[in-house]
Amino acid sequence: MPPDLDTPAEIAGLDLPNRLYRAPLLECAGDGPDAIDRLVDELEPAAAAGAGLIFQGAMPVRREGGRVAPNMTHLASPDRADDLRRLTDAIHDHGARIVAQLDHGGVRSLETWHRPYRAANPDLRQLAVSKPPRLLRLAARAGFLDYDFDVLSTADVYDLAADFGRAAGHAVAAGYDGIHLAGANMGIIQQFCSPYYNRRSDEFGGSFGARLRFLELVHEEIRERVGDLPVLTKIPVETAAPPFVRPRLSAADGVRLAEHAERIGFDAVVPVRGSTFWDLSLVRGQHPEQAWGDDRFQDDYAAVFGGRARARLVAAANRLQAHYYDFEPAWNADLCRQVRETTSLPVLCEGGIRGRAEMDALVGSACDLVGVGRPFYAEPRLPARLLDVETNGTTPTEDPHAVCENCNNCAVPQATGARGVCRTPSVLEAAVELRRAGAYERSPSDERDG
Ligand SMILES: Cc1cc2nc3c(=O)[nH]c(=O)nc-3n(C[C@H](O)[C@H](O)[C@H](O)COP(=O)(O)O)c2cc1C
Ligand code: SF4
Repeated sequence: MPPDLDTPAEIAGLDLPNRLYRAPLLECAGDGPDAIDRLVDELEPAAAAGAGLIFQGAMPVRREGGRVAPNMTHLASPDRADDLRRLTDAIHDHGARIVAQLDHGGVRSLETWHRPYRAANPDLRQLAVSKPPRLLRLAARAGFLDYDFDVLSTADVYDLAADFGRAAGHAVAAGYDGIHLAGANMGIIQQFCSPYYNRRSDEFGGSFGARLRFLELVHEEIRERVGDLPVLTKIPVETAAPPFVRPRLSAADGVRLAEHAERIGFDAVVPVRGSTFWDLSLVRGQHPEQAWGDDRFQDDYAAVFGGRARARLVAAANRLQAHYYDFEPAWNADLCRQVRETTSLPVLCEGGIRGRAEMDALVGSACDLVGVGRPFYAEPRLPARLLDVETNGTTPTEDPHAVCENCNNCAVPQATGARGVCRTPSVLEAAVELRRAGAYERSPSDERDG
């Protein structure tokens, strides 16, 4: 029998009850006293509803600097690990697994574009792999970005890799089941791998292999602390970058990168097609009209982007991007299939995957596990509808689909520090109807067994 979404799976000895995972999404839980409660509130419903694997959103490996969005929760200290144990216990109680994603933003860091954060942290300097590309420097000259960067010395690169390792050690202490590297989304790992960003002349730049050396070093540092626990990474491909952006990571480079990841000891990969920039190519969908027009956020948008006129320009750029990066069902499937043909690693596929039949078709052909991101904002207990579980009295739909409409109204307000929640009334109403009909309930034995 070919596997389907309900078939158990394994990643490097980690048993998973099924092949559905929650893709990493920023929880914006912050570092305050309620951070862990907020993380539990956000992540536990997916586990309780049956998701086999939960990827927590990215956590910075340093307390200072390297954050890519407001209100991230760092993993840079042992006391944080003590607190996070409550989260991992809550997930494990439902038979699910949870993996910590580690990140550093490099030149994508928050203070480069978020004015209030910059004002509160005037001394923060960004870690740059090389001098930022000309286009980004031009954006800085036009006042859209604010760079104050230090190109990493060779010794700095080793220090940063060691911080990834230390954070992984904290994750083990906190009870996580594995480590996931934020290897794409224009974070510092992608910046090292990408010929667009990396023009170094030391051991971390020059050839294709040298550009991957940082990824290798980070893996070594992590492995030393996590032993046999699975270590995964996103694999960046930059084919969605505007045509004038050169050089960049091609799909063939992404496949080579995945092969290299296998050789150096990673246990699974998540190949993603994106751009050289942090844009809507990662979250393909419609222009978030409603979120940009929402009166509740106008003052905050103006504060974040440096005035109402600038906020309007950012919204206009967003509109262009949405046109360019239209929604495509399972937009990473082809790339995943290519990676699966050349490596023996489990391949995880995410991006625009919404329906059960589509998931069954992907599992075993394009990938080994399928991930869902934004739809969890609309339906925190979505797995109960997608997986083959006994629901309380309702007849499972033939081919259940997430109700999410890919409009990105959940994502844009996060720039102001707002929580990631669905903000599209028709979608919320559909979810309420489903809740009333009991579609998110599971039988008590399913809840208990995970
Ligand atoms: C608001 C938001 C936050 C995200 N945060 C992360 C993150 O922290 N780390 C990461 O690797 N990907 C992140 N992603 C990308 C998702 O993991 C996923 O790849 C993307 O949303 C596409 O999947 P979807 O179409 O199912 O939403 C984020 C996406 C969104 C919309
Ligand atoms: S706002 Fe709601 S419908 Fe729109 S992308 Fe986000 S979760 Fe989906």
